Amino acid sequence: MTGTMLDVSELSENFSRRLIQSGYNSESVKKAVSKTARLMTHAVIINELTGPGERCSLCNLHKEGAARRLAGHGNPDSPIMFVGEGPGEHEDMFGIPFVGIAGTALTLWLEKMPLKREQVYISNVIKCRPENNRTPQPQECETCIENFLKKEIKMIKPRVIVAVGAVALKCMIPDATGITSSHGSWFKFEDIPLTPVYHPAFVLRKKNREFAEANQQVYRDLMQAFQQIKA
Ligand code: URA
Repeated sequence: MTGTMLDVSELSENFSRRLIQSGYNSESVKKAVSKTARLMTHAVIINELTGPGERCSLCNLHKEGAARRLAGHGNPDSPIMFVGEGPGEHEDMFGIPFVGIAGTALTLWLEKMPLKREQVYISNVIKCRPENNRTPQPQECETCIENFLKKEIKMIKPRVIVAVGAVALKCMIPDATGITSSHGSWFKFEDIPLTPVYHPAFVLRKKNREFAEANQQVYRDLMQAFQQIKA
């Protein structure tokens, strides 16, 4: 299914409501939602002109109904590259990473950073959507990393990589302990400093004080990553 203009306004209203209910303030939500809505609207136009784009058969994921193989998106000259787990329903629909509810939360976090969403580059370890958003298998991660992510990193040449969430961290740094103990620490991937942060979907599952604390932690970890590009 490809997205339509109507989907975009319905989705935007839905994301706004859910993010405000989670505890984000309505002004920040409005800004972030309008950015992801703009990305989705642009994607609808591109998809109508060019079709859904590349499909891939290098691993079993292509048998699970993903509409496309999804490249990263954003500023190719960004000194910082965000790498998430893999496309979800809305990313597969529109063809852009992080445009669903989790992506809108990431966009909202970036509003508080020295570089905003449109100034950074955002991608995923896995390029095709796993069925029902299941966790990708190590073999699938390895195939995608070798064939796409490493090449993408060589093109973007980021000075810092931010691994978004536990799965991205595990795929890129298999020896790392879990995200709860590793977020904010430093690793190297392809000789580039890498730091993990919580995944927005993980933060959105938290409530009240735990939600506020997880957000504060993310802002601290992200600030640290942005300070590293200035160093
Ligand atoms: N979660 C991810 O890890 N990546 C996306 O692109 C969207 C949601």
